[in-house]
Amino acid sequence: MTQQKTILRALAGETLPTPPIWMMRQAGRYLPEYRATRAQAGDFLKLCYNPELAAEVTLQPIRRYGFDAAILFADILLLPQALGADLWFVTGEGPRLSTITSQADFDKLSGKEDIHETLNPIYETVRILRRELPEETTLIGFAGMPWTVATYMIAGQGTKDQGPAHALKAENRPLFEAVMDRLTEGTIEYLSKQIEAGAEVVKLFDSWAGSLKGEDFQKYAVEPARVITSELKKRHPGIPVIGFPREAGEGYVGFAKATGVDCVALDNSVSPEWAAANVQVDGCVQGNLKSSHMVTGGQALVDETRAIVEAFKNGPHIFNLGHGITPDADPENVQLMIDTVRNG
Ligand code: CP3
Repeated sequence: MTQQKTILRALAGETLPTPPIWMMRQAGRYLPEYRATRAQAGDFLKLCYNPELAAEVTLQPIRRYGFDAAILFADILLLPQALGADLWFVTGEGPRLSTITSQADFDKLSGKEDIHETLNPIYETVRILRRELPEETTLIGFAGMPWTVATYMIAGQGTKDQGPAHALKAENRPLFEAVMDRLTEGTIEYLSKQIEAGAEVVKLFDSWAGSLKGEDFQKYAVEPARVITSELKKRHPGIPVIGFPREAGEGYVGFAKATGVDCVALDNSVSPEWAAANVQVDGCVQGNLKSSHMVTGGQALVDETRAIVEAFKNGPHIFNLGHGITPDADPENVQLMIDTVRNG
């Protein structure tokens, strides 16, 4: 059977005349229709756990822009919540969780088999989306990677340098590794259920991979990505996986080969020319326009978009930002980016 969806064709290694496009955080606060649905839901977490409304916000950017992929609306911190951590969001500040600093904190967590009770509404969102998305649009599921999720679970909030997680790793490695292992197992179960519900691709967000250096990068970014990817592909043969070891720098080189992911998502700290020569040689890449162009727009947006398309034109490429779009972005700049990618 011929693979029709452009995102799946790029993930299978095909070089397309025009790269397919989607955008991290494409359902988000820069869109007035998102803000309206979020207000209707009450707050962000209520929106995540309401399948009808979560599906609605996932579909909004597809209706407005016709992106080639939709990404499930949820959050990487729902898994720790499903494992028993308390989770809440402080307006204007970000997520807060109960912390893990001792074996006693860890012992309170539940096992991987207990997560679905909390996460069932997310799988329902996936089922609704598979029914309602246009047939040419690919549905991407996702999870956070163990290291990134562990940095929030250990500290109880976002941290600038992931200090508390690095400290636990140094001071109590068995406990740190127990957290990593529980998250690795939970992530496999969570993504497996998303795939069974209809996700056609899964993306692994390792937003803080860049703070792991040397051997730590191998052990806590590469190895979990390899384990999760190989188990998912064993259970769901052919499922494409996108890895996003953000700010990995040189760590991007060989990442696809070492982990088995089908595509490496690039942040904007690497130049597209360097990434074409050093990363795209191994397969599909995704990225990597600076999200600030969605705020500033203009000729710089057009020039930079064209340069990225040009640099990656000789291999498989999915156009995206280097990180999520921000709430202060102008929806018209998103249209300008799409028109530039599609019409040159
Ligand atoms: O890309 C998508 O649109 C899919 C949905 C998605 C969200 N978060 C929705 C969201 C995805 C893939 C994420 C990933 C995520 N969540 C990451 C990794 C990716 C990254 O951005 O580096 C992280 C670290 C989180 C944790 C998280 N969630 C933080 C730190 C915050 C607060 C920061 C902020 O932007 O306010 C969130 C909230 C969040 N997750 C929002 C959205 C749309 C904003 C919520 C709102 O409406 O107020």
